[in-house]
This record gives sequence, C-alpha cells and structure tokens, in this order.
Amino acid sequence: LEKKGEVLIEMELDLITARKTARDVSAQVGFGLTDITRIVTAVSELARNIYQYAKTGAMHWRILEGDPQGIEFIFEDHGPGISNLEQVLEGGHSTSKGLGLGISGAKRLMDDIQINTTLGNGTKITISKWLRG
Ligand SMILES: Nc1ncnc2c1ncn2[C@@H]1O[C@H](COP(=O)(O)OP(=O)(O)OP(=O)(O)O)[C@@H](O)[C@H]1O
Ligand SMILES: [Mg+2]
Repeated sequence: LEKKGEVLIEMELDLITARKTARDVSAQVGFGLTDITRIVTAVSELARNIYQYAKTGAMHWRILEGDPQGIEFIFEDHGPGISNLEQVLEGGHSTSKGLGLGISGAKRLMDDIQINTTLGNGTKITISKWLRG
C-alpha cells in the first residue's frame, strides 16, 4: 500500500480523482465514514480552488505514521495568491460568486490547516487530521 502520492490538478476531471484519492486513502488509514466525508469535503474545496483560481496545481498526500496515525494533504499552485487571507479564514469572503466557505470549511473539518500564500507567486495549503481526537 502506498504511503504518499500526488494528483495533478489540470482539468475538472482531476477534481474527481482528488476526491476519490482522499476517500480511498482515508479509508485505508481507518477513518470512519463521518471523518471520511469531512476529509473528502475539505479536499474537494481546496482542489476546486486550485482549478478555479490558479488553473493548475497539485495535491500531495501522505499518511502520517505514529500512534495515532493521521493523514496530510498539501495543495500547491503557482496562481495569483490569496489576498485578504484573514477574511477568507473567517468565511463569507469571495472574489468569485462563491459563498466564500471553502477554506473556512476545510479549517473546521480538519484538525489543522496551514496556509502559505504570496500575491503573484502562489499558494500552499496543508491540512491534516489524526485518526482519533
Ligand atoms: N488557490 C487559490 N489561489 C488564489 N486565490 C484563492 C485560492 N483559493 C482561494 N482563493 C481566494 O480565496 C477566496 C475564498 O476561497 P473559498 O474557497 O473559501 O471561497 P470561494 O471559493 O470564494 O467560494 P466557495 O464557498 O464556493 O468555495 C476565493 O474567493 C479566492 O479569492
Ligand atoms: Mg472555494
């Protein structure tokens, strides 16, 4: 079984691959259905943001070994970067016609989120979740 992998996000169909990968890997780690749904939802939002705002990028995933085990996803792009990061994290702020709930939702659904973004240079968002608590 693989411990890490990558999904390139270049076209809309890749969002389905990202979701399926998140579902399969989460199940492999042993997450229950509720957590799997949370993880897939967070992954779906961040992958969709890459496609929508940066056009292309990648999702890297890896299993976090230890007791308990965990899972980590990194979303990386070289798009325009996120302005107003504070508002984005609060939720409800969108530069498109979205609800502005993707990133704030991902933060709520996962155990941890780290965002590195530079205007004109790109964005790297890391999310993780542990098997228990
Ligand atoms: N990868 C990214 N590159 C550049 N800007 C981004 C990226 N991801 C998010 N953003 C910016 O952050 C804002 C908030 O993103 P978020 O996903 O929370 O909401 P949204 O995409 O606007 O709406 P939705 O609720 O449909 O996801 C976006 O409107 C966009 O301006
Ligand atoms: Mg979004």
